[in-house]
Amino acid sequence: MEIYVRRSRLEDVDEPVLVLFAAEGTEAVPPPLAGLDALFAGLLGRVITSGEFRGSPRETRVLDRPGGDHGPGRILLVGLGKAADLDPEALRRAAGEAAVAGRALRTGRIAFALPLAGSIPVTRQAQAIVEAACLALYEFPRYRSTPEPGRVAVTAIALVGHGDTGHAEIEAGVSVGRLGAECASLARDLGNTHAGEATPSYMAERAREIASAHDLALTVLERADMETRGMGGILGVARGSAEPPKLVVLEHQAGRTDLPTVCLVGKGITFDSGGISLKPGENMDLMKYDKAGACVVLAAMKAVAVLKLPLRVVGIAPFTENMPSGSAYHPGDVLRTMNGKTIEVLNTDAEGRLILADALAMASTFRPSAIVDLATLTGACVVALGIHCAGLLSTDDTLAARLVAAGEATGERLWRLPLFPDYREQIRSPFADMKNIGGKEAGAITAACLLREFTGDLPWAHLDIAGVSWREKERDYLRRGGTGFGVRLLIEFLRNFRG
Ligand code: BES
Ligand code: MN
Ligand code: ZN
Repeated sequence: MEIYVRRSRLEDVDEPVLVLFAAEGTEAVPPPLAGLDALFAGLLGRVITSGEFRGSPRETRVLDRPGGDHGPGRILLVGLGKAADLDPEALRRAAGEAAVAGRALRTGRIAFALPLAGSIPVTRQAQAIVEAACLALYEFPRYRSTPEPGRVAVTAIALVGHGDTGHAEIEAGVSVGRLGAECASLARDLGNTHAGEATPSYMAERAREIASAHDLALTVLERADMETRGMGGILGVARGSAEPPKLVVLEHQAGRTDLPTVCLVGKGITFDSGGISLKPGENMDLMKYDKAGACVVLAAMKAVAVLKLPLRVVGIAPFTENMPSGSAYHPGDVLRTMNGKTIEVLNTDAEGRLILADALAMASTFRPSAIVDLATLTGACVVALGIHCAGLLSTDDTLAARLVAAGEATGERLWRLPLFPDYREQIRSPFADMKNIGGKEAGAITAACLLREFTGDLPWAHLDIAGVSWREKERDYLRRGGTGFGVRLLIEFLRNFRG
């Protein structure tokens, strides 16, 4: 999809559809739109002043130009909700609705008018619109032999700055918005790729492509390398699978010891059957998304490289399947991880924390200023928080606050859960340093308590993305399937990170 920025009077726009956003309580046509209203023979003014168009969230209304052949053929009016509540997320939601309603007009090209009234800087307005339009128009046609019937794809989006709106400010927003949506969509593509195709080897190949296209250093640890390093966690989980495990390390500014270092770690279970502690059959297909954390890390590394951020960033993504077989690890097995700590496996379905134990221990060896991991780790987190935010658990208040702020800015909200030392008791084992399940209470927290054993004293945050990594229902700019939740948040977080 082409995205371009232009400066023009709105009555001179030559795209067939022009999107105008309007907040609730807009009582008259604002002066800059007077020329456009004249072109539409006062129609715009009539629907606004009559209260026929209220400006409520998700409200859309198409106005046809009564005649002539100059200017936009149609105006797509889109509601923003209350003006006082207008923030980038409200704008993204409206822009997502606009993109989908605009596509339904089947013209292939949509223009958005800028700037909007209100306090969002125009750069952030442009970013939000581009991000949301691209995210909303995402499709995953790979496994379809024929295109969606009757659909006309949007091939171009124009941002039209009218009045004395700064062109450079809009361009800056467009480039960040485009990159965020592109990388989130990369994570969605990887997530949506089914487990029969997206094996650990496949994921390592995709990482190789990202590394060579964007000049990142790449290391892929094979089974033998994991053995040498004593990575008994990932090796234990991988035992039941016919697919060899891979541990991907992508590095931006590799070896630059003068820059602050951030490690990103993502759970990459390409399919979670539960192993010998087999999951029930219903919805097991969704466990292809159990690699979502790792997909987010790969996609965020691409963004970091494109933005040439002045940080050293290490992305670590351990990949394996969790399968039952004659060679699978058993309940009762004790695994020795990379940092020497041992874990008694009481349920082979609590596998994510076992592969993350090694990945986090490895991350710690870089002595980073921060470690952030993302994992579809627990059903308990979904019970606690549902699908509207991810769980955040952290040993560092500053890091936690920065992540919360980043998620607030991008609409990928985080809600913090406690890590009181008292919870650690639930994973005490009579046979090993810890056990991999902590009983039915506080499951998201006890899982994080286990992870904490592998990050030493380093500032660390864990995002439990089990509830937000894929979705069933479509809404504003959110589509069904993999969401890429975390990619834009990490970009925002890292762009603001200063040691
Ligand atoms: N991948 C699952 C967690 C999950 C469940 C993600 C539902 C998304 C939706 C994880 O490996 C798992 O199976 N966790 C178990 C842990 C339990 C055995 C302690 C769970 O949450 O049931
Ligand atoms: Mn599991
Ligand atoms: Zn899992």
